[in-house]
Amino acid sequence: MRIKFHTIFSALLLFQFFLSVNSGFAQAVPGGLIKPGELWPDNNRNHVQAHGGGIIKVGDTYFWFGEYRAKDNDPDLRYVGCYSSKDLTNWTFRNTVIKISDPENLGKNWVLERPKVYYNKKTQKYVMYMHIDDGNYKLARVGVAVSDKVDGSYSYLKSFRPLGHESRDIGQFVDDDGAAYLIFEDRPFGFRIASLSDDYLNVEKEICLIPFHMEGGALIHYKGLYYAIGSALTGWRPNPNKYATATSLAGPWSEFKDIAPPETLTYGAQSTMIVKVVGDKSTTAIFMGDIWKPSEQWNSSYLWMPLNIGEGKLSLPAPKPWHLDVKSGKWNYTPSAK
Ligand code: DGJ
Repeated sequence: MRIKFHTIFSALLLFQFFLSVNSGFAQAVPGGLIKPGELWPDNNRNHVQAHGGGIIKVGDTYFWFGEYRAKDNDPDLRYVGCYSSKDLTNWTFRNTVIKISDPENLGKNWVLERPKVYYNKKTQKYVMYMHIDDGNYKLARVGVAVSDKVDGSYSYLKSFRPLGHESRDIGQFVDDDGAAYLIFEDRPFGFRIASLSDDYLNVEKEICLIPFHMEGGALIHYKGLYYAIGSALTGWRPNPNKYATATSLAGPWSEFKDIAPPETLTYGAQSTMIVKVVGDKSTTAIFMGDIWKPSEQWNSSYLWMPLNIGEGKLSLPAPKPWHLDVKSGKWNYTPSAK
């Protein structure tokens, strides 16, 4: 009996070793480490495809939406991936919630980027905003799609220029009072923050124009101050991302400063969102960034790190594996710390 048990146990260990050696993934550590820059396996051991993404929390579950750029995608279609997690570390693939062909005669190489999903309490619908463009990035519009279910199939409704302005990279911000905003890059003028209409299907009112040319816009409201992060306009190449602060979303905004030593080019990443995790002991602000690999986008990875933030200062620590406990809101460099 004893021998049998040992044999089974060793076989299991061997099997586990075989899996880890052959997968090429280092992310799926029990105990839950977020490993910036590495391939991030979902429950099916496929690298998460949610680039230029955003996160919303529904009940106790986080949903991560982003550009689904799998290698075997149909090149004529554009996809948005949706993943769920209770701990922001282990992700379950839910669905390609958008899988559409050119919706408006945008032409070859048409663009669907940076999808963000909001939940509208009033209409009980999930509303997705995305950057919609032609292959030369000249149309500069937002697209809107809706679904009754967070991970359902979203129906594409329309595209438009928000408040008549050019809009390329978009960012999502929901304030602590529940108010929903779209951040968008308006090439001639800068970086705009605008509120959404009651049903979220339109961009209603401009709150602020920050006359600074930045994309990858992200915002957080943290201990009485707003912090905005953005990246320079360098295509897929990384650059020193910067931040500014304001006591009101409408500004005035401070000067922009580097979030990391500028020579690191934000450790190769570009901002897409700041996730605020409010636990029962602490609050962690996660910098969510993309490390783009333009010639093999399916391998683009993610740089998520807890920000050093407070009293008007913000910095991104050097990337290193870390552990998050969503219940306490605390993070640590060791796997099991609470
Ligand atoms: C930078 C943007 O942030 C990305 O989302 C993408 O639009 C690339 N530019 C395209 O070059």
